[in-house]
Order: sequence, then C-alpha cells, then structure tokens
Amino acid sequence: MSKEKLIIFDTTMRDGEQSPGATMSREEKIRIGNSLERMGVDVIEAGFPAASEGDFEAVKAVAETVQESIVCGLCRTRLEDIDRAAEALKPARRGRIHTFIATSTIHMEKKLRMDSEDVIEQAVRAVRYARNFTDDVEFSTEDGGRSDFDFLCRIIEQAIDAGATTINVPDTVGYTFPEHYGALFKRLMETIPNADKAVFSAHCHNDLGMAVANSLAAVMNGARQVECAINGLGERAGNAALEEVVMAIRTRADIMPVEIGLDTTLIVPASRLVSSVTGFQVQPNKAVVGINAFTHESGIHQDGVLKARETYEIMRAQDVGWDDNRLTLGKLSGRSAFKDRLSKLGIEFKGTADLADAFIRFKQLADKKQEIFDEDLVALVMEMEANAPDEQYQLLAMRVQSEIGETPRANLVLLVEGKEVAAEAEGDGGVDATFKAIETIASSGAELLLYSVKNITEGTDSLGHVSVRLKRDGRSVTGQGADTDIVIASARAYVNALNRLLRLEAVAENFLGGV
Ligand code: KIV
Ligand code: ZN
Repeated sequence: MSKEKLIIFDTTMRDGEQSPGATMSREEKIRIGNSLERMGVDVIEAGFPAASEGDFEAVKAVAETVQESIVCGLCRTRLEDIDRAAEALKPARRGRIHTFIATSTIHMEKKLRMDSEDVIEQAVRAVRYARNFTDDVEFSTEDGGRSDFDFLCRIIEQAIDAGATTINVPDTVGYTFPEHYGALFKRLMETIPNADKAVFSAHCHNDLGMAVANSLAAVMNGARQVECAINGLGERAGNAALEEVVMAIRTRADIMPVEIGLDTTLIVPASRLVSSVTGFQVQPNKAVVGINAFTHESGIHQDGVLKARETYEIMRAQDVGWDDNRLTLGKLSGRSAFKDRLSKLGIEFKGTADLADAFIRFKQLADKKQEIFDEDLVALVMEMEANAPDEQYQLLAMRVQSEIGETPRANLVLLVEGKEVAAEAEGDGGVDATFKAIETIASSGAELLLYSVKNITEGTDSLGHVSVRLKRDGRSVTGQGADTDIVIASARAYVNALNRLLRLEAVAENFLGGV
C-alpha cells in the first residue's frame, strides 16, 4: 500500500539564521539552497525579505537559483511585508508566501496588544492579499502550542477559507510534549470543518529537547509537512533537526504512515556545509551527523558489529553520506571530480575563472595534505570570498613572534578601502596580539563572543578552521578563516567577522530581530 508523502520544509536559512551569530550572506544562502535542492527538500524557506535589504536580496537570489524546490519567504501579516516577500519571490519557478501572527493569549495581549477578533481579521486579510501573488500560501499560528483550542479552530478555519493552502501550528517556545502536540493535530483536523482543504504542518523548537519527537507525533496524527533545519539550527535551542526527522521516518518505515523523497546520502555534506558557513560546530555525539554517530568504541559493540552490523547499527553510515565525504583521489583528482564534489556541497561557480582559481588552490592544498575533506573545500571557497576585492578589510601580510619568556608581538598589514595600513601590537599569546593589531586599525569596539579552532583532519598538516563571533550594538556575526597555520587562520576569521559586521550593519535599518 503506498503511503502519503511528507513534505520536508527546511528553515535553516530563516529560523536557523535567527540563531545569534548565524547570519548568512547571499552567496552562502545560494550555496545552502543548492545543496537542499539537490537533496530533494520540498520547500526551502530562504529568509524574511522584509527584515532587511540583505535578506530580501538573499531570498531573491535563492528564488533565481533554485528550480525544483518551492522557495518560501516569511512575512508578518503586514501588507508591506507581503509585498516585499512577493517581490523577492518573483523569480521563483515555484514560490510560497508564509505569513504568521501570534495566537496565544499571552502573545496577543502582551506582545501584539491586539484583541483576538483583530488578530483573526489581520490574518484573513494577509492570507487573502498573499493569494494575489501566488496560489501557495502558508499561514502560521505563532505560539500555536500554547493557544486556546477554540480560538485556533476559528482562526485556522477562516485562514483556509481566505485561501491558505498550508496551516502551520508551531510550538514556538518548545513547550509541548509529544502526546499533547500529536493530540492537538488530531483534534484540530477532526474539528475544523474545512481542514481537508489544507496541509497541516508541524514546526517545533527544541527548548526541552523534544522538537523531533513532537514533529513525529504530529505526523503520526495527520500532519503532512514538517518544518526543520539542518543540524537542528534555529532560534534559541533550535528547530527539529532535518537529518533526525528524515532518518527516523526512513528507519522506522515499519511504523511511520508517510514517506519522503530525499536523497539521504547528501545529509552529511549539507550538515558540513551549514556548520562551515555558520561556524556552529556539530557536537560529536549528535544523532546522524555527529562524528561519533557511527563509531563503536567498546569491545563488545565492535565485536557485535563485526559479526553482524545490525547488532548495534540501525542505519548505515553510507546511507547518510558518511563514507563519501572526501575526495579519494587527493592531489591527482581531476577538475570534474572536484567540480562534482563542489556541486554536492551546493557550490557552483558562475564563471570558469573562479572555478579555475578554486582548482589551483585545491591543487596547492592537495600538495600539502593527502586527503581533502568537504570542510577543506568549503573553507577554500570561503577563503576566496573573504579575500574578494570588494571587502572593506583584507589581510595582506602578517608576522607573529612568540618566544618563551617574551611577550608575543604581531605585525600586520591590512588593505582598508584600497589603502595599505600597518599595525603592531603585543598580546597575551600570538592570537591575542594579532586581534589587538587588527583592532588598532579597525577600532570596531566589537565584543569577542566566541573564538574556536577546529582541525579539519587528524594530522598536524591539517587545515585549522577558526570561527570568530563578534557582537556590536546587539548584532552578532561569525567570521571564518582557514589555514594550515592557525594564527593566520585566526587573523582571517577576525577580518572576515569585521567585514560581515559592516555588511550586516549596512543593510540593517529595518531589521526586525527575533521572530
Ligand atoms: O517558531 C515559530 O513560531 C516560527 C513562526 C514564524 C513559523 O518560527
Ligand atoms: Zn520557529
């Protein structure tokens, strides 16, 4: 008997981007959009076009690039927001407008300061207006998990009448339990007279660690869309992790009433890409995409797995893309293997010159290292972008002296708006001296929130991947840098974070903050 299809709606680039420090550039969104599309994700929520000029441009760029998946833009119920979303989605082959308003008593009273009748009126007006631009309109009842049941029924019924084709009932604050969230879907769908005219959708936050369980409970009870994010990225504790939802449904096909059409072997490359772009490392024991997810340490387990894999493994590592995350040919790899791997990671170059440049850098790296991993490739491309000539600051040269018993000193030269500027500083270690020297030039006054170094492969020849998170005036960004020398990687990451901060500030006049 064939099963109903579950729509996988990815919100890595919208809710995921709301994680402090996870802002993504237009190019990064195109890359993530490509990788999600290649995986077969049904709906890609690319951003919140009214939030800023940058987000508008990024959603538009994803809408121009992605062909197969539906591209979605979020908006409040304000008509100006809907206009912005519609404009950004104009190039999309299939575009969805997603409009939302809060429906819980606490949100309506304290945040919106609106009475429930006005909330219904605004929701209906927004859905109707959005339908002028597309037949695919999603309506979300923000804080649905804590909303009054009768009110939810009323607003959803009217939203469907007004033309909403998807109804999302989010557990915005991660408060519900699977049993209750599942029962809520069942009851809503049984009670609302026109419920059969829309697809019901789950959107769960992970504040109590139950986002995936809640999403699956909703599916068991009739939801046919799940909103999720790669690596569980999202506001606060994050959203339901796409990889966990998908693999739970695949692995437990015996009990799940739905099927999904994703190429799961692209999960690990997508996870690596999102981790590299955001600088948010994946915890080693994270289900499906953590480095230890398929590693057996205890003798008893190893013995069992060697005798029969199924004794301790419920999924195959290669089915989620594990064994496939490196270029096996290393320095002998040809340009087409290189290009193919890049495109699995969602990286497509516009011009042949950029591809040629990237290939030369890849060869140089392969001369230094035997194996090239996905993160190496992402780092390599990010380095190319970080040194793009239109960046405000570029690192031209640096020298760091470190001697036992002496205070470390950094000398460096930055290119600032076309002018070379030199600086030197002492610090508590080479990295500290380097950051101080950069600040001597930039005087950003930004607060350093995070400094993390990750070696991409095992050897001492490994690329060091550094993430630097800076915060100024309530906005935070994460910069990345990679080099086989970690002090140079640190300088690159700091300069990259400064450039991102400037870009974010330049487009942030009507930034909305957390939704
Ligand atoms: O968590 C939430 O309620 C949301 C909505 C905007 C869908 O992200
Ligand atoms: Zn959310």
